[in-house]
Amino acid sequence: MEPPSQKQPDPDDVIFRAARPSDYEEINAIANLPGYRFGTLRLPHQSPETARKWLENIAAGDVSLVAVKAGKIIANGGLNRLLGRRGHAGSLGMGVHDDYRGQGVGSKLMREILTIADSWLNLKRIELTVYTDNAPAIALYKRNGFEVEGTHKAFAFRDGSFIDAYAMARIKE
Ligand SMILES: CC(C)(COP(=O)(O)OP(=O)(O)OC[C@H]1O[C@@H](n2cnc3c(N)ncnc32)[C@H](O)[C@@H]1OP(=O)(O)O)[C@@H](O)C(=O)NCCC(=O)NCCS
Repeated sequence: MEPPSQKQPDPDDVIFRAARPSDYEEINAIANLPGYRFGTLRLPHQSPETARKWLENIAAGDVSLVAVKAGKIIANGGLNRLLGRRGHAGSLGMGVHDDYRGQGVGSKLMREILTIADSWLNLKRIELTVYTDNAPAIALYKRNGFEVEGTHKAFAFRDGSFIDAYAMARIKE
């Protein structure tokens, strides 16, 4: 079988590449946007150092991607592969810049991550948690084969009150 060749991207295309430590300021700026924070576990005023340390410590076997449009990082996401007897599983996280939501970026990023999980890592199970009121995220996950397995009660404290989260997973048959 011939290896596929890479097509030249259009300058306006969204492209994906590995996140690198030098991306820390852009990624941190996205994590500090109010919409991104509302859907994730980020605190207000997360320091750039926090993002830098995280990016410098991504483990071998993990996948950490950024989506780039016209030279600007507009989303990040990836998979943390679990260890030992849970080595067939990975935990997925993702987030899109507040100004680029609802434009299909999250769907493309999900496809990119799932292709790596299915075709290169052969992961059986991908799991995630999502706040029960995050309708766009839940819609995206269900569309990509994730099912709700249960509800974590008072999973996180968010902007003055506790919020539940669904445990969702996708099993590769
Ligand atoms: C959740 C998130 C990743 C989705 O990415 P996105 O680029 O906005 O998503 P897309 O545009 O690809 O798709 C969103 C889908 O939700 C749907 N949607 C939007 N608002 C909705 C709503 N209120 N109820 C139900 N579905 C909704 C859209 O119609 C779209 O589905 P479609 O493609 O079938 O039309 C993004 O909004 C985000 O990063 N939010 C902040 C951080 C976060 O919540 N991360 C997830 C943590 S679990």
